[in-house]
Amino acid sequence: MRPGSSRLFKSLSFCCSFLITLPLSAQPILEGDRSVPAEARKGMVVTSHYLATDEALKVLEQGGNAIDAAVTAAFALAVTQPRSGNIGGGGFMLVSSGKKDDVVAIDYREKAPAAASRDMFLDSEGNADSDLSRYSHRAAGVPGTVAGLALALERYGTLSLADALAPAIRLAEEGFVIPPRFSDGIRSSAERLKQFESSRKVFFKPDGSFYEPGELFVQKELAATLRRIAEQGVKGFYEGETADLIVAEMQRGGGLITHDDLKNYEPSVRKPVHGSYRGYDVYSMSPPSSGGTHVVQILNILEGYPIADSGPNSARSIHLMAEAMKRAYADRSQYLGDTDFVEVPLSGLTSKDYAASLREGIDPDRATPSESIRPADPVPYESNETTHFSIVDQYGNAVSNTYTINFSYGSHIVVDGAGFLLNNEMDDFSAKPGVPNAYGLIGGEANRIEPGKRMLSSMSPTIVKKDGRNFLVTGSPGGSRIITTTLQVLMNVIDHNLNIQAAVNAPRIHHQWLPDELRIEQGISPDTIALLEGMGHKVVQKPAMGAIQSIMVAEDGTLYGGADPRRSTSSAKGL
Ligand code: GLY
Repeated sequence: MRPGSSRLFKSLSFCCSFLITLPLSAQPILEGDRSVPAEARKGMVVTSHYLATDEALKVLEQGGNAIDAAVTAAFALAVTQPRSGNIGGGGFMLVSSGKKDDVVAIDYREKAPAAASRDMFLDSEGNADSDLSRYSHRAAGVPGTVAGLALALERYGTLSLADALAPAIRLAEEGFVIPPRFSDGIRSSAERLKQFESSRKVFFKPDGSFYEPGELFVQKELAATLRRIAEQGVKGFYEGETADLIVAEMQRGGGLITHDDLKNYEPSVRKPVHGSYRGYDVYSMSPPSSGGTHVVQILNILEGYPIADSGPNSARSIHLMAEAMKRAYADRSQYLGDTDFVEVPLSGLTSKDYAASLREGIDPDRATPSESIRPADPVPYESNETTHFSIVDQYGNAVSNTYTINFSYGSHIVVDGAGFLLNNEMDDFSAKPGVPNAYGLIGGEANRIEPGKRMLSSMSPTIVKKDGRNFLVTGSPGGSRIITTTLQVLMNVIDHNLNIQAAVNAPRIHHQWLPDELRIEQGISPDTIALLEGMGHKVVQKPAMGAIQSIMVAEDGTLYGGADPRRSTSSAKGL
C-alpha cells in the first residue's frame, strides 16, 4: 500500500443524516498525483453499513485509492450485510479517475449456467413458475462478485487481494456486534431461510432461535471461504474446495451450476453509457444493465422542460417525470438485454432527437394511460435488495459500485460449508415474454434466457462530471426503482440545487409504465397528490424506495456525503 500520512488528520465520523463538508484542493487531484501535499488529501466513503464504511476509510487513511477502498468495502459488506452484500452474486462498478471521458465500467453481473434454457422456469402448462425462478437452486446465476472485485483491484488498485480481504476475514472470524436492522431482516425472512438446512445453520442459533441485537455474529465457514480467496486468488472461489462446495450444493438441490460454469466465468470491462444533462456529463451503467440507458433517456426527455421553475416534488414536476419514466420503461421491456447476445439500440434510446420525439407525445396537463403507450421507435440497431456504495479518494478518483444477490438474502440458500448465500438473479431474465418479474417489470425476447447470457438489470451506478472533474457519485438498490431513485437525486442536485443530503432524503416517486400507477413515498403533500389525480394519475403510496449513497464534490473540492436514512446502518464518513 502507498505510504500515507493522513492518519495525522482526525477522522470525522457521522451517521447517516449529517452533512459532511471537508475542504479539498481547488483543483482535481488526479491518479497518482504526489504533488498534492499530504495535508490536502482527503477522501470520503458512503455505504449502507458503518463497519464497511470504517474499513474502507482506513484504507484511504493509509494512502490507498478509491478502488482499494471499494474492494475492501465490498468484501466487508459480504460479511456484515449478508442480505445484499455478497460473494454469491454480482454487480457493476464505475471507476473514474477524474479526467475527462475517463470512466470505465466493470461488469461482474452473474451469467446463466451453460445448461440454462429459455423455458426452464415454465411449468407443464407453460406458465412461469416464480418459486422456481426465485427460491430454488436453479434461481442462481454463476456468481461474478469475486472475479469482478479481483479485476478491479488488479487493474486500478494498489492493494493485494489478500489485504483487501483481511478486514472481511477478521469480521467473519471474530464476529461483529449485531445491529437491529440485521436481526429484523432475518426475522422477516425466517420462514424461507429455515427451509434450507444450510441457511438455518448460519442465520439461527443451534436451537433455532434468533440472534439478537447486541450479540456477536460469527461466520467461521465464510471466513474460511474468504481465506481461500486471499490465499489462492480467484481460483480460491471458482476452483478447488469452494467450487466443489458450490457444485455439491447444486447437485443436492437440482441446480445447474457446474465446475465448468465457475471456471469459465469472466467479468467484462465495458464503456459506460454517456449522456449530458444541462451541461453536466452523466456516466452510468451500460447493458446488461438497463440503468444507465434509461437514466440518460429520462433526463434527455426532461431537459426540454423548465423543471427548476416547477420546483422539487411539485405536481407539475412529478407529472412530467412520471410521463418520461413511463415511456422509458416501455422501451426497456422491448429493447434491453445483454449486448453480448442481442443488439440494443443504445444510441437511439439515448439520443436527444429521440427524447424530443417522445416529448411530443407528452400532454403537459394530462397523464397518458400506460395502455396507450407502447415501446417507441428509436433509431434502430447500430449495434429489493441490492446495495450501493460511493467512494472518492484523495487522488481525485471515484468509484460508484452497486452489487446484489437480487432479493434480500437472494435465493435464501447458503452454500453448505462455504457460508455464503446464492443469488436468485435468474428471475431477472424474462421467464416468459410479457410476464412480469418480481419487480413487476415486463421483459421481452431481448432478455430471454440463454446459456452464458447475463440477465437484464436496473442497477445504475452513476458518476456525473462537470467540466471533466468528478461532481456527483451515486447509486442505489431498489430493483425497478433504482433507475428513478438515481434520476431524482441527479435532478434534486442539478435542477433544484438541493444539497446532497436533502437530495437523498427528499420523498421519491416512481412510475414504470406497467402497472399504470404513480408510486410515491410518504411526504408528498396532499394538495400535490390531488393535483396529480386531477391530471389522471393513479397515485399510490408505497414503502420507502431505494437507499442511495452519494458523494458530491463541490467546485472548490469540498466533499459532501449523503447517506440514505432509509437504511438505519447507512453511514457517510470522511477523512
Ligand atoms: N436484481 C435487480 C437488478 O439487477 O436490477
